Amino acid sequence: MPLVTTTEMFRRAYDGGYAIGAFNVNNMEIVQGITEAAQECGAPLILQVSAGARKYAKHVYLIKLVEAALEDTGLPIALHLDHGADFEICKSCIDGGFTSVMIDGSHHSFEENIAVTKQVADYAHERGVVVEGELGRLAGVEDEVNVSSADSSYTDPAQVEEFVTRTGVDSLAIAIGTLHGAYKFKPGTKPQLRFDILEEIAWRLPGFPIVLHGASSVIPEFVAKVNQYGGSMPDAAGVPEEMLREATKMAVCKINIDSDLRLAMTASVREHLYEHPDHFDPRQYLTPARDAIRSMVKHKIINVLGCGGKA
Ligand code: G3H
Ligand code: 13P
Ligand code: ZN
Repeated sequence: MPLVTTTEMFRRAYDGGYAIGAFNVNNMEIVQGITEAAQECGAPLILQVSAGARKYAKHVYLIKLVEAALEDTGLPIALHLDHGADFEICKSCIDGGFTSVMIDGSHHSFEENIAVTKQVADYAHERGVVVEGELGRLAGVEDEVNVSSADSSYTDPAQVEEFVTRTGVDSLAIAIGTLHGAYKFKPGTKPQLRFDILEEIAWRLPGFPIVLHGASSVIPEFVAKVNQYGGSMPDAAGVPEEMLREATKMAVCKINIDSDLRLAMTASVREHLYEHPDHFDPRQYLTPARDAIRSMVKHKIINVLGCGGKA
């Protein structure tokens, strides 16, 4: 089966009240860990690549790894550009075999965001590729934004119909209080995600797929393990999994996860090298690291996303 777009995945996810996991990939072990989990669960999958991943691994290596995963698993897999900053990177990924791109114009004015998003959507649609736009602004890991005072960066539901109609996007990433990175919320406090905004957007855009970025849960077991085996991460907390489950039952069809992959892998590598200080063959520590990714992704598919058996 060739790479697919997200159109059919999202239609079924919306109707079925579940979401597809969009996992960031940077190397072979990450691709294999994720796709093995999806295969074991019979789950459809979005593998996404950031500009940083393309710089790290090169476009051609990532494409070939994903093609290999496709051949190996036979799963419906979409290959997506994560946070495309401008038309040029989106065009390069569309021309280079991706089936989905995100144009992240959220840092522009409303009109400029519409202009660049429409330019990408027109180019993509002529070539059978789908497009995710973003309205509202998520803080980055380094921004240390106090969520309660960040109202101005939430998506304004009054703008979504105009944005979707004028750009022609196929899905929309929104800001309701999730954040990128491992340091999202004060540990021990309950994050205030704006489900009221999500609800209003869903009401204004019936049947339209919504995307949640910054959706890692920063699984405490991994942070504890990193610190137990020589790391020094400050206390960290992410999006509670029950909140993500709630979102999947609403209009959210795509949930982005990167930080939990990084943590699963790093915790495993640290543990392995601590327990086996004499090991120096990368296969010795990358095998358990890949296994750690596989079991974390299986947990997400079964207990959070609900997309197991939907391939
Ligand atoms: O949202 C961003 C993703 O976690 C990708 O991160 O740009 O460091 O690859 P990156
Ligand atoms: P996390 O940092 O919460 O994993 O978010 C990843 C993401 O949104 C990628 O676009
Ligand atoms: Zn993101």
